[in-house]
Amino acid sequence: MKININRWARSGTYAQFHRRSARHLFGASFFPALAFLLHTSGCAAQNAIQAPQAPQAVQVLTWWKSAGEHKAVDVLAERLNQENIVWHDAVIPSGGVGAGIVLKSRVLAGTAPDMAQLKGPLINEWFDLGLINEFRILPGNSVTNTSGRWDKAFFPTVEELVRTQGHLLAVPLGVHRMNLIFYNRRVFDKFGLHAPETWDEFTAAADRLQKEGIVPLAQSAEPWQLASLFEALLLAESSPEFYRRAFVTKDPSAFSDPRFARALTKMRSLKKYMSTPVREMDWADATKLVAGGEAGMIVMGDFAKGELNAWGYATDVNFGCVAVPNTADYHIYNIDTLVLLKKDSMPQELADRIAQIMVSPNVQADYNIAKGSVSVLRNADQTRMDSCARSSWKVFSRGSAVQVPSLAHDMATDGISKDAIIAETVRFFMDDSIKVTQTQQRLGAITRSLPKAR
Ligand code: BGC
Repeated sequence: MKININRWARSGTYAQFHRRSARHLFGASFFPALAFLLHTSGCAAQNAIQAPQAPQAVQVLTWWKSAGEHKAVDVLAERLNQENIVWHDAVIPSGGVGAGIVLKSRVLAGTAPDMAQLKGPLINEWFDLGLINEFRILPGNSVTNTSGRWDKAFFPTVEELVRTQGHLLAVPLGVHRMNLIFYNRRVFDKFGLHAPETWDEFTAAADRLQKEGIVPLAQSAEPWQLASLFEALLLAESSPEFYRRAFVTKDPSAFSDPRFARALTKMRSLKKYMSTPVREMDWADATKLVAGGEAGMIVMGDFAKGELNAWGYATDVNFGCVAVPNTADYHIYNIDTLVLLKKDSMPQELADRIAQIMVSPNVQADYNIAKGSVSVLRNADQTRMDSCARSSWKVFSRGSAVQVPSLAHDMATDGISKDAIIAETVRFFMDDSIKVTQTQQRLGAITRSLPKAR
């Protein structure tokens, strides 16, 4: 076990660890096990060994397994390689849920990776628990804005997410936009359809595609994918302020609101445009249906663009992207971040260098092109962005009033609340006998007992 118990205890997080109940994060059995591991292994934690000339390895746990995700990792790995740092992939190919479980059990077993994909409010929770170390971005690095201050380089929302009281808790990699429809351009051209900007246009396009024997919407029944669709519909039927009331502050009255009811009704009404029955599919397989023309559209985050590009489909030629109707002025964001697990075998200087490389302008540009997202740097070069990225960038740049955090992608709330809200929404979608009001009542009741936002 490589957690430095002395530093951990000194930092005061040990006390917090006992004070704060984090059962919702790890479950009840986590604490005795972790305490035992810390007790039995703290003494061995002092001797980090490194040979200055030898390549330094860093093991990174992610759930990135698709073609586009691989390309994005390659950008990072190649750039690190130039600095004699070797990226070791620890990929858990089961989406964020599986990766989160593996990460927790590896921490418990004392075999934590050096860095890991951890997002949203979880970053602060893990820091409070003393499980992650901070990064330092040193003066004189390449991430500076016009006033020369690196700490103003990130978008404010990114900054707020990764930094607490001066501590940089995670390296931000890119900003994904979730409220998007990707559509097959050739199929649309063939039938004289254009990108749906209103629900009427969407319905007209979907009806026509269906008549031509093409599945209008390649949506999958995987819970996170349905949740991703639902959050876009909720935003479409309400406003950023209402969306936050429901998913961030979890105000129980938001769930009985007519706007919430409309979003549920809308989601069910879209079912007729999906395959019957709606089956669970990996998001990349669902995207492939659109690429191949078996399906016309998919509501998906812009990692789908990274994927389509990686397969050789060009933006605006083979496929197009448009905001979900009524959400063009808004941005449901999902920010990818890597954290540094607390272990003495990882020299702080190495972690700091890695962070600096990852947020440097060129790496940011190349990585985000491959990933489908946009840079976390607010002075990024827009000339290298395609139309879809530019539009995401422009909307995101307008600031927090038009931005909302993705529930499906762990940005809006804690894990228990997210799972509870998603479970009810998915149940409603899958079972047509459940009434809108029943789901609203259940969600209202559930949210009364959920942890409150900090
Ligand atoms: C991550 C993306 C990833 C996507 C699909 C999201 O939660 O933020 O980086 O590409 O899942 O795997």
